[in-house]
This record gives sequence, structure tokens and C-alpha cells, in this order.
Amino acid sequence: MRRDGKGSLKNRVLAELEANRGKSVSGNKIANNLGITRSAVWKGVMQLREDGYVITAVTNRGYCLTQDNNLLNEPAIRALLRTHDLGRHMDVFRTVDSTNIFAKKLAEIGAPTGHTVIAESQTEGKGRMGRSFHSPGGQGIYMSVIVRPELSIAQASNLTACCAVAVCEAIEEAADISCGIKWVNDVYIHNKKVCGILTEAAMNVEEGTLDYAVIGIGLNVNNTSFPDDISEKATSIRLEKGEYINRSVLCADILNHLETRIDSMTDGRFMTDYRARSILDGRNVLITNGDDAYPAKVLGIDEEGRLMIRHQDGREERIVNGSIEL
Ligand code: BTN
Repeated sequence: MRRDGKGSLKNRVLAELEANRGKSVSGNKIANNLGITRSAVWKGVMQLREDGYVITAVTNRGYCLTQDNNLLNEPAIRALLRTHDLGRHMDVFRTVDSTNIFAKKLAEIGAPTGHTVIAESQTEGKGRMGRSFHSPGGQGIYMSVIVRPELSIAQASNLTACCAVAVCEAIEEAADISCGIKWVNDVYIHNKKVCGILTEAAMNVEEGTLDYAVIGIGLNVNNTSFPDDISEKATSIRLEKGEYINRSVLCADILNHLETRIDSMTDGRFMTDYRARSILDGRNVLITNGDDAYPAKVLGIDEEGRLMIRHQDGREERIVNGSIEL
């Protein structure tokens, strides 16, 4: 696992190159701006190239981060943040087992609210209900955000719904394509899944409040194909929009929307927006919960985020758990 530490030499050099993307900047200028030697700049450039960045060097003109670099990078994300907490501490990895696992370890040792873990790829990306999450390199966004909002356990149970709304808004801002939500945690475009959210939380049982939550977001961004077992159901923003998407910009958009939505979570407005985005209303679905599987008709989502269904025998029920097949 490689770590792009905050304030590391290469990240500081990258920030200078990123601010001038597509243009040459002299080694001297970078060295002066950062208060380091030209040979330290060169060393930073070499490390960045090793990481996969394309940086050209032309005698008498300097270094240039070419326009087509699309590795997730901390300076590019940071430059677009409008947040007070989210993303203010950030770890960006080339690869990690699971950003949720990593973030939970950080949360346990006291990482502050907003600390964000992002990876180019995951070797053990986790989905809901023990499933795995397809996490190939260079294509998606795999991000986990530690949050510590003051919420009761009941309020915290709707964090995933709140975040799903924020992710829809971010995708719509970055790619101008409309998104719907499939209860409870999936973001859909044109009837296919583009994003899944896995929220894992620790409670303060004595006080009945949330200690921390790790919000894990897995988003298919520039994928052009998927493994056979998910190819019928999964899509990416690029496939639906027909355009290459800058993932760093989208990461920042997600963090910006996430913070706004979580900050105002207690006013309950997110639930109105969540319900309005539901793609399940009126549809016949198959619901699975553990070993149990049954068909039902979806009537809607109630004010508490429960799925309202009608069984085939006419019985109506509101459920809090389950996986829905369209
Ligand atoms: C689902 O669709 O069931 C939820 C998928 C959540 C995947 C994300 S990717 C980032 C974070 N790290 C993980 O291991 N899982 C979540």
C-alpha cells in the first residue's frame, strides 16, 4: 500500500503543477514557491511519475502536468472543496483492501470528523449484506468519510439515505445527468446501478447517540465494462453520459454536497428529497432478507425511510431491511 501523505514533498510539488495544469512551470519557480531546492523538486517529480502521473520536462521551460492526467489527487480535490470539515484531513491511496476498513481503524483511534480515505482501487471492496464491491483501478471512486454528527441512534439510521441524496446531487452537478435512488442505498441512472453506499457506525449505547459513522461510497465513474455477473445491472457515469469524467472534481463535489446535507440533516428535508428520488414506487419487486425471498409491490417510502410494500395476499407492511431486485 502506498500512501500520499498530507504535505509530503511530492504532494506539494503536485499542488504547484496542478495549479498550472497543461502549462510548463520552471523548476526554479516551484523550488522558490515551496522553499526547497531544485533537486528536491526533481525528486518529487520522479516520485510522481513513479505513481503514474505524466509530467513532461522541457529544457528552459520546466515541468508540465499534462491535461490528460486523471489520477485521483489530493491537491486537485482540495482546491475545489467548499467544506469546513469534510476532506480537510485526507488520505489518498493507490490501493487499499477497503477504504471502510481503513477509515474505521482511524475512527477508532480518534480521527476527527471529516477525515476522508480515498483509493484508486480496492482489493476487498465491501458491499451490503456481505457482498463484495467491484473496485478496479483508475475508473471509479472508492471513498470513506468519517463523520461524528450529533445524532440520536434513530436519526443516524437514516444517514445512508441522506448521503444517497448528496451523491445524486454531486453527480448531477459534475455530469449533468439525473439520478434516482433504489431503496435503500443505491444510486441509479437509467435503471442501472451506478453507486452503492455502505454506512458503518459505532454507537454510544449509554447515551443513545452516534459515536462515529464511516460513510463508504463506491461510484462507477469511467468504467467501460463490468464483469459478467454484474454487467446487466451495473453502469457508469461515462457509459450513460458518453463522456469522460474528472474523478477528482467529482470527489470534491461529493464531499461538498455530503457536508451540506449532513449539516442540515435534523431538519428532515433530506427525507422529502430522498422519497422524491425513489425509483421503486409502484413497481413489483422481489425482496430478499437473509434466506427469506418474496415478491411484493412497492407503495412508497414513509417519513422514516421505511419501504412500504403490499404482499401478494394484500397485506401491507413497512420494512427497514432487505435487498430489492427489480
Ligand atoms: C453496496 O452497493 O452494497 C455498497 C457498496 C459500498 C462500496 C464502498 S467503496 C468505498 C467503501 N469501501 C468499501 O469497502 N465499501 C465502500
